[in-house]
Amino acid sequence: MYSKNILLIVATLGLGLCHTAAAASSSDWRTRSIYQVLTDRFARTDGSTSATCNTGDRLYCGGSYVGIQNHLDYIQDAGFDAIWISPVTAQLPNDTAYGYAYHGYWQQNLYELNSNFGTAEELQALSTALHDRGMYLMVDVVVNHNGWDGSPSSVNYADFYPFNKASQYHPYCGINYDNTVDSANIEDCWVGDTTVSLPDLRTEDSDVATGYQTWIKQLVANYSIDGLRLDTVMEVDTAFWADFETAAGVYMIGEVDEPNGTYVCSFQNYVPGVLNYGTYFPLFAAFSSTSGDMDALVDMINTVKYFCKDTSLIGSFSENHDQPRFASVTGDMAAATNIISYTMLADGIPIIYEGQEQHYNALGGSSDPYNREAIWFSDYSQSAPLYVLVKTLNTLRKHIFSDDSSYLNYQSWPIYSDTTTIAVRKGYQISVLSNKGSNGASYTQSINTKGITNTEFTEILSCATLSSDSNGNIVVPMGQGQARLYYPTSRLSGSGLCGASSKAKMARSPSARSVARPFYA
Ligand SMILES: *[C@@H]1O[C@H](CO)[C@@H](O)[C@H](O)[C@H]1NC(C)=O
Ligand SMILES: *[C@@H]1O[C@H](CO)[C@@H](O)[C@H](O)[C@H]1NC(C)=O
Ligand SMILES: *[C@@H]1O[C@H](CO)[C@@H](O)[C@H](O)[C@H]1NC(C)=O
Repeated sequence: MYSKNILLIVATLGLGLCHTAAAASSSDWRTRSIYQVLTDRFARTDGSTSATCNTGDRLYCGGSYVGIQNHLDYIQDAGFDAIWISPVTAQLPNDTAYGYAYHGYWQQNLYELNSNFGTAEELQALSTALHDRGMYLMVDVVVNHNGWDGSPSSVNYADFYPFNKASQYHPYCGINYDNTVDSANIEDCWVGDTTVSLPDLRTEDSDVATGYQTWIKQLVANYSIDGLRLDTVMEVDTAFWADFETAAGVYMIGEVDEPNGTYVCSFQNYVPGVLNYGTYFPLFAAFSSTSGDMDALVDMINTVKYFCKDTSLIGSFSENHDQPRFASVTGDMAAATNIISYTMLADGIPIIYEGQEQHYNALGGSSDPYNREAIWFSDYSQSAPLYVLVKTLNTLRKHIFSDDSSYLNYQSWPIYSDTTTIAVRKGYQISVLSNKGSNGASYTQSINTKGITNTEFTEILSCATLSSDSNGNIVVPMGQGQARLYYPTSRLSGSGLCGASSKAKMARSPSARSVARPFYA
């Protein structure tokens, strides 16, 4: 539910307007589910579903705020209650060797909007439309760098705003990503290459830091933003974030695109949330091949539990605009079902990247720019199998929050794994996942639930039931690589899933829970 009870009168200093907004805190985000929108590629203002969009051309394809607003039913019907949109600021205008800045990561002017996506009024209208539906708006922001069409030595700093002096940028050096230990290398050198240069801001200097604070406070107020996705967090000096967070006043989740889970989690010391890149890599590897490594996934689940400060605030994802489409690696629908099931029921806030629910496969490539296909080509089908799956999983996850007030405190507990199967328990929910694929043989897998005895479970994708014995063992029928997602049948009431009632039920008294919870956070 969108919290209207905290009314913040934002005294927009010097702006001459009085803005009323309901600020969303980190804890307000914990139960949310995010749909990642690449603004240029989701929906066009004219609603056309045949407009050309050849990903390889890297041109603007015409997606807009009006387009998103007109297709919010598609997102909300799938059970999402938040969207993350591309950076909104004015970009490098040129057709570079890497095409246009349709993605929004080559900003030049913080105080102007990227007019390709729409006007300030249209962005405000999108924000209002989301809030009217009880949904949140998350905006992607970039503070590490600007964008310039040309070499580092050709940058005309006067073209940037408000940071228009060369002295506000680090001198050029390219980041060596093999050396994350050297913070000067990671934080002060430039991301990208020298064809499109990404001049690196001196975020450690107070004029730059306060400039960003002034800007983000206004941006959040002007568009009633509920949360921020932070680009390139590890490339910014760590001391920058605390005051930026205070100025923003909303939940922030940061990108640390590295496979070292310990390193990724360490950034939760500086920003409230991190995208769970640590788990992303072994997760993708485990399910994208019938010989994927489940042990590496289990190890990483445990690493993240140990090293992340608050696993309820991390972002669980298996695709985004920078990484390969899962379906570009395997078109197997059972494999896709398993990785999406894991993603949505894992610790933290689930994030589905637009097109994942349509089984998009990045035709012509696998990653950037091919993984940025226009969603209008799907005709926004709500009967696509993975759309239906995502809807079911959002329904289940939402139901669990209302059924079990302790759910937020549970962390994923790998209770079984072998070379092809992993079982993860989180509260009373048990997922048994497989990478055998649609051609996989049938087998049964005995799994000990670690304490849920004599209980009937419903598998929410097939609605088949099974029961645990007095030792808490279940015998799970596996086959054709299908995911098995269990929840105690008696606890499904009110969910509308598998014939259970969809009416809200009475709150359960905490003492009615009999299960031991050694995995309590
Ligand atoms: C980029 O576009 C701007 C504005 O149109 C123009 O002034 C500038 O010369 C262009 N840069 C290059 C490298 O073409
Ligand atoms: C916020 O809105 C005010 C009033 O229109 C405007 O002056 C200011 O530049 C805006 N700031 C941002 C960051 O959008
Ligand atoms: C992973 O990151 C941690 C924390 O930064 C670091 O101590 C460790 O050496 C890194 N591990 C590897 C294999 O690089």
